Amino acid sequence: MNHFLSIHDVADVHQLITSGIIAKRNPFSDQQMGRNKTIGLLFFNSSLRTRISTQKAAQNLGLNVIVMNVGQDSWGLEMEEGVVMNGNKAEHVKEAAAVIGSYCDIIGIRSFAELQDRDKDYAELVFQQFKKYANVPIVNLESATRHPLQSLADCITIEEFKVKKRPKVVLTWLPHFKALPQAVANSFCEWMNHMDVELVVTHPEGYDLAPQFVGNAQVVYDQDKALEGADFVYGKNWSSYQEYGRVLSQDPSWMLTEAKMALTDNGKFMHCLPLRRNMKVADEVLDGPRSLVIEQAANREWAAQAALKEVLLGML
Ligand code: CP
Repeated sequence: MNHFLSIHDVADVHQLITSGIIAKRNPFSDQQMGRNKTIGLLFFNSSLRTRISTQKAAQNLGLNVIVMNVGQDSWGLEMEEGVVMNGNKAEHVKEAAAVIGSYCDIIGIRSFAELQDRDKDYAELVFQQFKKYANVPIVNLESATRHPLQSLADCITIEEFKVKKRPKVVLTWLPHFKALPQAVANSFCEWMNHMDVELVVTHPEGYDLAPQFVGNAQVVYDQDKALEGADFVYGKNWSSYQEYGRVLSQDPSWMLTEAKMALTDNGKFMHCLPLRRNMKVADEVLDGPRSLVIEQAANREWAAQAALKEVLLGML
C-alpha cells in the first residue's frame, strides 16, 4: 500500500482486518518496522480517538510521531492554486506539503467537509494537494467524504462480536441539530459492502447518501422496519447530501432507545463517537450491555496499526 486514503488503496480487506486482530494480540511484534522513521499527524479539525489511537499505533510500530494542529500551531494553509494570497492563509500547500514531506516519511491528515459546496468537498482538495506535493505516503485520518481508519475498526469489531456467519448490519441516521458530514456513514457503507453482511441503511427521506457509497445496501425509510432482526445497529447523524449540508429533520423519534433496540435480534449498538447522549442515543442503550462503543473505539488503535504497517511495507 502506498497511500491509505480509502478502501480502494487496500489490496486485501480481509487480510487487513486479520492484521488488526493480530496486532491487538501482540502489539509490539513489529516494533522494528518503523525504526528511524517519522510520521506527521496533521489535524485541521478536532479529534480525541483518531489522534491518540494513531499516535499509539505508530509508537507500537517504532515510529517517531509529530502531531500538529494546522492553523493553530502552524500557519493557515492555502489549498487553491493560482490565487492571490491576500487573505488569512499565510502559507501555500505547495511549500508546506513539500517541507513536511522532507521531515516525515508518512503524513496523516484530518480535514473535514466544509458543507458549503458539495463538488468542492467531494473533490478532497486537501488530500489531493498533499498527495501531489508531499512525495510521501498520505494516510486519511478523516476526510470530507471518508473515515477509513474508523471503518476498519468497525470491521474488526463486527468480526469479533458477530454470532452469525452473515449478520444483519443496520446503519441508522440519528437526529442532531448541527450539520455533520457524511464521511463516517459513506465510509461505513463502502467497507460493509466488502464484508459478508446483510447491509441495510435507514434514514428519513432526503438523507440518501451518494450512490457510490451505498453500493448494494438496501435503503429503508422506516427505521422500525429496518431494525427488525438486526445483529448490529450502527448509529450516525449526517446532513443531507442532496440538499447539501442542510439539516432537514431533527425528528426525535429517530433517537435510539431500548424500545427500538428490542426490535433487533439481541443487536449490538455501535457508534464512532463522540455522540450527544439522549439526543441521538438514550443513556439506557449506551450504558447497557448492548453497547460496543468502548470496544469499537479501542479497536481504532489496531486498525491504525494494521494500516500503518501496510504503508510501511509498501515503503520497503
Ligand atoms: N471517531 C473519531 O474519529 O473520533 P475523533 O473525532 O475523536 O477522532
